[in-house]
Amino acid sequence: MMTTLKNDLLLRALRKEKVERPPVWMMRQAGRYLPDYIKLRNQYDFFTRVQTPELATAITLQPIDQVGVDAAIIFSDILVIPQAMGLEVLMEEGKGPSLPKTIKTKADVNALITEGVEENLSYVTSALALTKKELNGRVPLIGFAGAPWTLLCYMVEGKGSKTWDKAKQFVYTEPALAHSLLQKITDITIKYLVAQVKAGADTVQVFDSWAGSLSPSDFQTFAQPYLLQIADALKDHAPVILFPKGTWHALEDLSKSSASGIGIDWTISPEYARKLTSNNITLQGNFDPAKLLAPIPQIKIWVKEMIDAFGVQNYIANLGHGITPNIPVDHAKAFVDAVKEYQPSNDN
Ligand code: CP3
Repeated sequence: MMTTLKNDLLLRALRKEKVERPPVWMMRQAGRYLPDYIKLRNQYDFFTRVQTPELATAITLQPIDQVGVDAAIIFSDILVIPQAMGLEVLMEEGKGPSLPKTIKTKADVNALITEGVEENLSYVTSALALTKKELNGRVPLIGFAGAPWTLLCYMVEGKGSKTWDKAKQFVYTEPALAHSLLQKITDITIKYLVAQVKAGADTVQVFDSWAGSLSPSDFQTFAQPYLLQIADALKDHAPVILFPKGTWHALEDLSKSSASGIGIDWTISPEYARKLTSNNITLQGNFDPAKLLAPIPQIKIWVKEMIDAFGVQNYIANLGHGITPNIPVDHAKAFVDAVKEYQPSNDN
């Protein structure tokens, strides 16, 4: 049964419809800065939390109830795709993800599972359906996936990296093989995101967290074409938000894509981002998460300045990357409250 959304600010902003105030949510809002998340983390390991719909739903709802954000993002991870393609993924406390067996050769690429991957991920669609039911129309539900370039980074490198030099060595040495891997990930991601929408996601975000490690021309070769394929394939299903972190150089191109929103980080000013995108697309961002460590009155001043700079319309207030575990909950809440309390200055 369809439930009408009581708060559809996010979807209106993505459709470029008029809103009273910008919607606000935070990347990685369901996570380790929340004491109730820590409690569940101490009881169940990471993939048990991800693969058990009741747990994933409970975690997804925590920031809705406790921080008051205008959207829920399903609790999962971008690495569920490599895992469902047959690569083992370990998630060790305090160490981040690691993949013991990495992609090196054509045989490794050929050995990846490509059929029925979205069926193997049915625990995600079950979690979405359950979350949708529990939300009961309070706020929209966001589905997500990792972008092909960012997933290739982990699949080749086997763990996080500052330079991603192994991933780069792979794509620079074996470009044809790299493209065949990127295309496999893209095809699976499209089916996976369509399944998420069918299960109840109102919009989907594609996280290209490490896009900024590539030069502009390498981004155009190894990342952007796949982001555009995903945006094109999803556009008739749900609005798409692309988040290619650190790629201000691509903003003009991306603003002409079939995506509905683009996430930006704090290394570009709102004014310049608007200029590059000719105000053609909804922008999301771009508060430096580390600024949430500042005193609350200061956070509120910066949030007002950020909204003044972006403008209320065609805008989704968010961070420029994920919230970190060291942020006090009341500071996260102050960020959200500041958006909700926003009043334009007289000259605005
Ligand atoms: O609230 C939400 O945003 C939904 C949940 C979510 C998680 N991961 C849960 C998680 C989302 C959207 C992600 C995406 C994700 N995962 C990205 C893209 C976003 C970004 O921050 O750039 C990336 C690069 C990953 C890969 C990943 N998963 C890393 C690097 C880590 C460890 C370091 C870290 O940032 O936490 C994870 C583990 C992970 N995924 C945790 C959570 C809450 C922490 C582990 C734990 O709680 O036990």
